Amino acid sequence: MTSNNYAEAAQLFRHALSPEDAARLPFYGQLVKAMAEDTTCLDILSSTPRRQRKPVLLLAALHYAARRDTNSMSQLFARGLRPGEDLGLVIDEVLREVARSPELITQHIHRSTQTNEPGRSAVIGAVLQELATRGSNSIALIDVGCSAGLNLYPDFIPVNDDASPLSLICNDLIDIDRTKAFPRIELRFGIDTNPLDVSREDDRQWLAACVWPEDQTRLLRLEQLVDTLPSWPEPHIFVGDATEQLSAVLLEIPDGVTPVIVNSWVLAYFSPAEQLAYYELVTELCRSAGAAWISIESSFDVAFHQLNNPAHPSPKKGASSILVCEPGGVPSAWGWCHPHGHWLSFTPSA
Ligand SMILES: C[S@@+](CC[C@H](N)C(=O)[O-])C[C@H]1O[C@@H](n2cnc3c(N)ncnc32)[C@H](O)[C@@H]1O
Repeated sequence: MTSNNYAEAAQLFRHALSPEDAARLPFYGQLVKAMAEDTTCLDILSSTPRRQRKPVLLLAALHYAARRDTNSMSQLFARGLRPGEDLGLVIDEVLREVARSPELITQHIHRSTQTNEPGRSAVIGAVLQELATRGSNSIALIDVGCSAGLNLYPDFIPVNDDASPLSLICNDLIDIDRTKAFPRIELRFGIDTNPLDVSREDDRQWLAACVWPEDQTRLLRLEQLVDTLPSWPEPHIFVGDATEQLSAVLLEIPDGVTPVIVNSWVLAYFSPAEQLAYYELVTELCRSAGAAWISIESSFDVAFHQLNNPAHPSPKKGASSILVCEPGGVPSAWGWCHPHGHWLSFTPSA
């Protein structure tokens, strides 16, 4: 392994969590910092195929092991989450265990990071409500990189509603009227190279492993949602690459229904050339096929997300940017959000 590969992998570990998440989640926050100095972890990450070279994949593999049985990783994770533990000692032991048994991680490298974060529906929902006021009242929602499809129900999952166990918590940094009507979602489509099926135990386990263990609220909500999902309208799932499948999905949508294409935390898994091809296809569909587009991605990973509204810079480090393209329009910056939708700072273009 060259020192360049190590330097790149170390940098990825150091930026794996936003500063606010690293402070909120000390076990994972300190673990990724230690992984950035650990030769076994640097070796594993640098030899992971580039598309999946994400520290969160390694974390998900460890969490998967910790959730499976009573084993040493389960015990170490339990200690990592216990208040008052010396995290430095626990993390040293986690890394010793990885050095002894790297297969704990490497056996999962064929998988991909499939975190399906419903918190992003709090952002998608706010954009849909705004699009409805602008005439997109009857829509087909198309979630590109849908994982298990949890973000296909922004009209079913409440936001900031203490009475509902499913409720998402989104701290709106700018006043947002969440009582506005949603558009009618006539059809729901998901596209994914490897869609997860919540009726399969291993898929459920992998979904849960992709959630950070200190985020108990997220884990509990995931379990509730996964149990509720089968009672909601069934989506149409297309298996395959986004750019190849999108035009086929659009053929399924009747006249009078606006296709709304959504991608959230997907394009980081595309090469720069694939990102550009996707951008050209989707903006063409907005221009000529009456589609709308909502893109929620990191501008660090996706070059075209560097489109900013100079009057509205990101309020926090590590934020995701929101681009929206209305039917017949061009993409514009509509604000910023936490990568998991914990907060939203929303400035729809006029
Ligand atoms: C990090 S997950 C995000 C899931 C979901 N969009 C969310 O926000 O919760 C990325 C998903 O994109 C899928 N994916 C990656 N590359 C893809 C491609 N070229 N076409 C379609 N799906 C893809 C992966 O299989 C995975 O389920």
